[in-house]
Amino acid sequence: MKDLSIEKADYSKIAKVYDDARPLSEQNIDIWLKLIAEKINVQGDVTLLDLGCETGRFTIPIATQLGYSVTGADASEDMVIRASVKKDAERAMWDVQDASSLTYSNDSFDAVFMSHLLHHIDAPLKVLGECYRVLKPGGVLLNRYSALEDLNDPEHVFFPETLEIDKERYATKSKMEKWVKKTGFNRVSSKTISQQTYQTAEERLNAVKLKSTSVLTLISKAAYEKGLEAFRRYITQHQDDRWLLLDKITLTIGHKK
Ligand SMILES: C[S@@+](CC[C@H](N)C(=O)[O-])C[C@H]1O[C@@H](n2cnc3c(N)ncnc32)[C@H](O)[C@@H]1O
Repeated sequence: MKDLSIEKADYSKIAKVYDDARPLSEQNIDIWLKLIAEKINVQGDVTLLDLGCETGRFTIPIATQLGYSVTGADASEDMVIRASVKKDAERAMWDVQDASSLTYSNDSFDAVFMSHLLHHIDAPLKVLGECYRVLKPGGVLLNRYSALEDLNDPEHVFFPETLEIDKERYATKSKMEKWVKKTGFNRVSSKTISQQTYQTAEERLNAVKLKSTSVLTLISKAAYEKGLEAFRRYITQHQDDRWLLLDKITLTIGHKK
């Protein structure tokens, strides 16, 4: 494996632009909520931990629309504060937690959901182990992420330095499933969705300008400027290319025995 010393994205800075630049349309929320509810399938009150919740993009809709008892937890206090003052934030509980060493008791939750968290973690198996520990027997892990084989989006095609970094941090679907099984989960499966994240190419360009995809904050200024120019040129010539609007996102599910 190539020895890349990977810096960590500074989420206290990214928090300021995240909500504006990483839109999650109602249609996309509905797709993910439907999938979450279908996979959890518990009767009565459902307790769910949203790990790496950031500004609560999923936490709040899970609480308000699915009616679950949700805890949003993130290592960044900034993120948790931002989340906790949003509309309807009082419907969830908020917590500063390190996913590698959670302070919750064993068997606390019916479900642990995490979205785009594991690639930030040096020891993902440790986090998966914590998820297993805090889940009740029969509880469900729902891990939403971009699989390595699906990183052929504009942020990686026009900014190839990001791919060099992400090759070291992202798992393929089969590797993720292997990790989840190794942790002890059974009935492990994955589903990949082609999500329309942006309504227009310009919207994606603006998100790139705000570096809302955190890996863009980790590449050199020269590589960023070069990529931005290439991306702009492509948009001018391919306004209607739907690839500019889409992201492939996978949900890997596992059940605690
Ligand atoms: C890409 S964002 C996740 C976005 C959010 N879940 C969503 O999809 O809308 C990654 C989040 O993980 C958090 N994070 C990074 N390392 C963490 C750790 N060890 N424990 C808990 N949260 C962590 C960051 O602070 C950041 O808010």
